[in-house]
Amino acid sequence: MPEQPTDLRETVRRRYAASALKVSGGGTACCGPEPVEADENFGGALYAADERDTLPAEAVAASLGCGNPTAVARLDEGERVLDLGSGGGIDVLLSARRVGPTGKAYGLDMTEEMLALALANQQKAGVTNVEFLKGTIEAIPLPAGTIDVVISNCVINLSTDKPAVFAEMFRVLAPGGRIGVSDVVADDELTPARRAERGDYVGCIAGALSFAEYRDGLSEAGFTDVEFTPTHAVADGMHSAIVRAVKPNTAQPGAVTAATPTADCDCRG
Ligand SMILES: C[S@@+](CC[C@H](N)C(=O)[O-])C[C@H]1O[C@@H](n2cnc3c(N)ncnc32)[C@H](O)[C@@H]1O
Repeated sequence: MPEQPTDLRETVRRRYAASALKVSGGGTACCGPEPVEADENFGGALYAADERDTLPAEAVAASLGCGNPTAVARLDEGERVLDLGSGGGIDVLLSARRVGPTGKAYGLDMTEEMLALALANQQKAGVTNVEFLKGTIEAIPLPAGTIDVVISNCVINLSTDKPAVFAEMFRVLAPGGRIGVSDVVADDELTPARRAERGDYVGCIAGALSFAEYRDGLSEAGFTDVEFTPTHAVADGMHSAIVRAVKPNTAQPGAVTAATPTADCDCRG
């Protein structure tokens, strides 16, 4: 019997809790076809040396992404950035430096062990314009229209409800806001079954959308100017790609949906 979405999310959570504990114990962690093993297509090697050198070694070791979204999203002084599935915090810390003291970087993750690692990395980095939130990317615990840029690194493929993620990204962005995401994306001719032959779900392969599915999902949520830039292959017919899109300036401020937590926001940092 296929795994149910709630079971799958718990499998994902346990996998990344184990990665966080491994890094906290002095190892490295990586997304990708081989769980919790380093792979040149994933992790800290995808960051420029001058970026890695500004961060605590543990933040780089904890990197599990398939790209470097801070390099692909233009970030300006004073902006508010949200990183979906922030893991050990590498992209939050880099973003916080780029938006400066008048800006703010939020990291959102559902895995307690990852949030603990991210907080420890924040303290080592001495960066203060940061807040880590516990929650899911399908029900972002932030009010509508409060974010200028949504980034994410190899996380949306792990969601069991991608339309909810796209709708939530749109809701939290201010009109004119933008996304700059790194994610695994499949060639359009690869069926979900053929994607699953190339790697497992928790390793960021089987749950990847195709280019057409990604474009349609973002467009249905209201995004315009959807663009893909594939950067490197992660499996046959599957790519790490930069995904950019814009929330139109004319968009009405997002309605606060029933999925929007307010009182139960678990904020740290
Ligand atoms: C592949 S790792 C990427 C971490 C980080 N972005 C990086 O580049 O190092 C995936 C992260 O997303 C988190 N995650 C996965 N699914 C999630 C969901 N539905 N809601 C919130 N966090 C999620 C996991 O706990 C994990 O920390």
